[in-house]
Amino acid sequence: MAKSPKAPSPPAGGASTHVSPGSAPADEANVLVEAEDAAPDDDDSGSDYSSIGGSSATTSVASSYLLPNDETEQERLDLTHHVFCLLLNGALCVTQLEKPQNILDIGTGTGIWAIDISDLHPSATCTPQRLAPLSDRDKHQPEPDPDAMFQVDDATPEWMFPPDHFDFIHARTLGGAIRDWPALLSSCFEHCRPGGHVELVEGRPDFWCDDGSLTDMATAKWLAEFRRLAASLDFDIAPKLPALLAGAGFVDVTTTQRVVPLGTSPKDAHLKEVGRWFRTQFIDMALEAYSLALFTRAGGWANIEFQVLLAKVREELKTNKIHLYTYTAFVTGRKPEASS
Ligand SMILES: C[S@@+](CC[C@H](N)C(=O)[O-])C[C@H]1O[C@@H](n2cnc3c(N)ncnc32)[C@H](O)[C@@H]1O
Repeated sequence: MAKSPKAPSPPAGGASTHVSPGSAPADEANVLVEAEDAAPDDDDSGSDYSSIGGSSATTSVASSYLLPNDETEQERLDLTHHVFCLLLNGALCVTQLEKPQNILDIGTGTGIWAIDISDLHPSATCTPQRLAPLSDRDKHQPEPDPDAMFQVDDATPEWMFPPDHFDFIHARTLGGAIRDWPALLSSCFEHCRPGGHVELVEGRPDFWCDDGSLTDMATAKWLAEFRRLAASLDFDIAPKLPALLAGAGFVDVTTTQRVVPLGTSPKDAHLKEVGRWFRTQFIDMALEAYSLALFTRAGGWANIEFQVLLAKVREELKTNKIHLYTYTAFVTGRKPEASS
């Protein structure tokens, strides 16, 4: 019997009671092997992971990427973009940008952030880079935009960009997708211009509850199993990012954290609004996106058993009687001038 993974600690300053994970039924050692070895299934249908100019590593990395690459996932990414903007009161990043010329968005997804930042800084060239081409048409780029040419590549191996090139490098919700964060951040450092900035945005893949409203329910069962299976995948990268950025050479490292309620229980109108959007994307999309491959491939759950659990979780969360919340961290750093 595997040990339950240690519950991740809430961020400093977060006065919260962490919900205890339940017991872990399966052999944890097998979980990692299965997750890494899993061949792309039919449930990745719609995905076209063949490289169109990316590195030769792209296909194999894509095969081990656990999130789907279909239209629902694209809708989810656009909804979460809205949540991130709400968290920053309409801003696209915490970093104060002054006339940026070259911007890179690593793991861009639908490219919605890259398009918005290009609109905000029309003189800048934003390169949206992603692991795999979208499964169907690129909904945000019906016409080729010379300032937003998509690069399809794996962010981890050596980059083709010139050194000291980007004024700003942005990466959002790549936790669980990047195997070698030090290598990625070292590339960011090399290709960021001296004085340029990097910003990494990650949600905590976990929930907290302060008032005991999460009792022995399907949601508690789902959460305990999610924690157990995700423990080996480094999903919860946010708390490690400040040290990783500093280790890569960045200075002035800051972390800005925001509470993200799962539902509309908060009294505060802004949090209620955030919670409404976050719950919609979670119930309709993220819940399945983040746990289907994990539960069925790594955890050995039968699809029917998994779907029954998810249906119960959705019902419970819709009642608004369970008061869960999570956090999003915006971690920034600057490349020192002297390192050029
Ligand atoms: C959860 S989505 C986030 C999309 C986008 N950053 C956003 O916030 O809307 C993760 C994205 O990272 C890409 N990705 C995953 N692993 C990657 C890797 N090793 N290199 C580059 N992109 C990767 C996926 O193809 C997907 O587009």
